Formats: sequence, structure tokens, C-alpha cells
Amino acid sequence: HQTLKPFPKDFLWGASTSAYQVEGASLEDGKGPSFQDTKKLPPGTADLTVSVDHYHRYKEDIALMAEMGFKAYRFSISWSRVLPDGIGKVNPKGIEFYNNLIDECLKYGIEPIITMFHFDMPAALEEKGSWSNASSSEWFKEFARVLFENYGDRVKYWLTINEQNMMTLVGPLIGTLRVPEATTNLTKEIYQQNHHQLVAQAKAMQLCHEMLPKAKIGPAPNIALAYPNSNRPEDIIAEQNANAIRNWLYLDMAVYGRYNNLVWAYLEAKDATPTFAPGDAEVLKVAKPDFIAFNYYTSFTVEASDGSEQIADKFADQQSAMSEPGYYRSVQNQNLKKTEFGWEIDPVGFRATMRALYDRYQLPLLVTENGIGAYDELTADGKVHDPYRIVYLREHIVQIKEAISDGVEMLGYNPWSAIDLISTHEGIKKRYGFIYVDRDEFDLKTLKRYRKDSFYWYKKVIATNGENL
Ligand code: BG6
Repeated sequence: HQTLKPFPKDFLWGASTSAYQVEGASLEDGKGPSFQDTKKLPPGTADLTVSVDHYHRYKEDIALMAEMGFKAYRFSISWSRVLPDGIGKVNPKGIEFYNNLIDECLKYGIEPIITMFHFDMPAALEEKGSWSNASSSEWFKEFARVLFENYGDRVKYWLTINEQNMMTLVGPLIGTLRVPEATTNLTKEIYQQNHHQLVAQAKAMQLCHEMLPKAKIGPAPNIALAYPNSNRPEDIIAEQNANAIRNWLYLDMAVYGRYNNLVWAYLEAKDATPTFAPGDAEVLKVAKPDFIAFNYYTSFTVEASDGSEQIADKFADQQSAMSEPGYYRSVQNQNLKKTEFGWEIDPVGFRATMRALYDRYQLPLLVTENGIGAYDELTADGKVHDPYRIVYLREHIVQIKEAISDGVEMLGYNPWSAIDLISTHEGIKKRYGFIYVDRDEFDLKTLKRYRKDSFYWYKKVIATNGENL
């Protein structure tokens, strides 16, 4: 047992959202459609035309966040709201919306933390091949330039691409990445898209440092430390493979500018090494992040796989998508309880993840997501009792304190989500927010906002800088 250190004075307490999951107004005021507006929706889930109407109600929403005492608000910018065709013509109304949103945050002393890309490629660029197109890194760089020019005077924290690793690993399953139908080598196709994203990120980091010397920028993958299912030596090899393929690939590239050797060997074996365009190697080497942002929901347990499993469809389900025959097989961790939506709950794994990240990269860490999806219920007297959310968040915040006491440099905590929103593929019924939104999957109801029990609890946590949990 160690004596726990306090949170730093300027710790960024807040919460997160992403544009398409909260804004709505999906085709209003000149916004072009994005991949999220044109993709096929999972059956039984809400569409994104209204989402939770943050576009029209952001003032009320930011006021509620200020009431909770937020020091930061992490949100994403919809690329096709700002640039309806992805490149070229700028939409003044789109620029104005984010100007207003940023100013509204600053009015309350809330630091805006901006994600540049959160699963919503402009549909016009989808038609040009999206991340499969080698020009995609240049499209992204020009989008970055528009953001830095317009918002760089006020925004100090930038995140490049949200959960690039999850797009690569499970994107075709949960609808965050499109793969062309005629693909013959699926791994090669996906890792080529991944390569273009890595280059896009490097170009954006470099441009940020050139244009905004005082700003900070970093990647925002989903990092969950992989555990071996046993102390069988073969399981340790599987664990190392899993950590490399699931986690280190992305951050080794962002920080050191090189492909992780285990991942490169895996890609060679699959005849799937990405093609480098002229200049890629150099920009990947030169660009550096200032911090590492990461999302954490749960850990990841694996065992050895001899490669004999028959996988007909890699993206048939989560278990297949998260396994790599011959490298590792994803298994359940018998020591952990699960959420109502079947996600394992592992607060201690959060500490282990923070320690591993800091040990490996020696950069400050910013938590950009963490939280529990649940079926919340609005009572007749307008309350939402969500003790499970309070327990989940409390147990994870304690582990940040442990990590700080272990010597890990932590910048802030921005759980998912500030307000209820539409989940990636399970609709609005899977709620994450501190603020409840009165709508159902297909019935928009009043869209009125209600403070959940966790709202009042988080307010107290922030007011005491994490001392009163
Ligand atoms: C992360 C994403 O994967 O987890 C969010 O960055 C997402 O966009 C969140 O909503 C929770 O996942 P889900 O699938 O429950 O919405």
C-alpha cells in the first residue's frame, strides 16, 4: 500500500463527446454528409439526423457542464460541417458553429480539447476512396490547416484521430471503417488505410507545431493492456503479440516514427505490408506528439493460438475481430465482472495501462474516454438513479490516483460521455452521460436534459479535486 498523492492543481477534469454522436443537424447550415450519414445503420438503432440536438442546444449543455465544474470539454469537429466536400470550399456556418462552441466553453473557463477526426469521413471523400486513397493524408493536413487557422488562437489541446486502432481492428464490424467490396487481401487493405492515417496524423502534428508553437497535440487511440490468460510461456508470446498489434503499433509510430517489429513481421507473414509513398518515412520520423491521449474501457485477455481456428468471417463478431489466428485468441477474463452490455470491468487494468504507457513512452497522459454504457431510467419525478456509473467511475478515478502516486504524469480525465449520445452501433439505449436526454431510439420526445445522480457526484469530485470520491 502506498500513500496516495493528490491530483495536480490544474488537472483537466471534464468529459467527452464526438460530433456525429451528439450534434444532429446532420445536413443543416451547409454541412455535407459524412460516412456516418450514408452508412447502413445497425437494425433497431437511432439515425443521426437529430442525435441529441447539441448543435442547437450547446449553450444549455455547456452551462450544465459548467455547473458540474468542468475544467475541460473534449469534443470533435465534424470535417464535413467545416468543409462540406472534405476539401476545397469552406462552410462559413460550420466555422461559426465551432467558434461559438469554443467561446461558450471559454466563457466558463472550460478548456476545449478538440478531436480532429472521430469516425466521420466526409461522404465526398468516401467516394474518392476514403483512407484507401494515398491523398487522404494531404486532405487531412488541409483540414488541419483550416482548424489551426480558425481556432488555433484559443485552442491549446488537439487530438488527431480518435481510436485509429479500433477502426483498424474492428471498424468494419462496428461501422467506423469501410472496406471496398472487391478486396482480396483484407489485412493488406486495412493496414494500408491505417498507414495513410498514420501519415495523416504525422502531417497534422508537424503542421500544428509549425503554426501553433504553444499548442499541444497527440494521438488518441483506445489502449487496453493485454493480459496473458495463464503463465504458459505460449500465452506470454500471445500477450506480446496482442499488445503489439492492438496497442504499440500506433504509439510506437506516433512517438518513435517506426513500425513495431512484431507487427511488421505479422504483416509480412500476411503479405500485407503497407506501401510507403515518397516522403512518408521522413514525416513519420520527424513528427512528435506532446502527450498521449487514450481511451480506456476494459483490459484485454488473450491466449495462444496455433492458427488452426477456422474463421469464415473475420468481422462476424467481436471475438473473431479481436483474435488473430496464429498470434493470439481473445478470451474472457474470469476474474472480472461485466457491464449490462457485456464489457468486462477492470479498474486495476486501468492503472496497469497507465503505468505501461508511461514506462514505454515517457510522455504525459490524458484520459479522453472511460465510462459505462447502461440502460438508464428516467423516473416520474425527473430523476435518474445511476449508482453503477458512480461506482464504475469512482473505481477508475482511484486508479488514476494510484498511477499518479506511481509517478505517472497525468494531465486530465475526460470520461465518456458528458451527455447521453448515440452509441457507435447500439443506439441511444446504451447511455453513458452525466446528463440524461429525454429521447428514445425512434421517438424524439422532448429532448429535455436531466441531471443524473452521477452529475451531482461528479460535481463534488471536481470541486474537491478528486479528494471526495
Ligand atoms: C469509443 C468511441 O470507441 O467508445 C466512442 O470513441 C464510442 O465513439 C465509445 O461511443 C463507446 O462505445 P459504444 O460502442 O458503446 O458506443
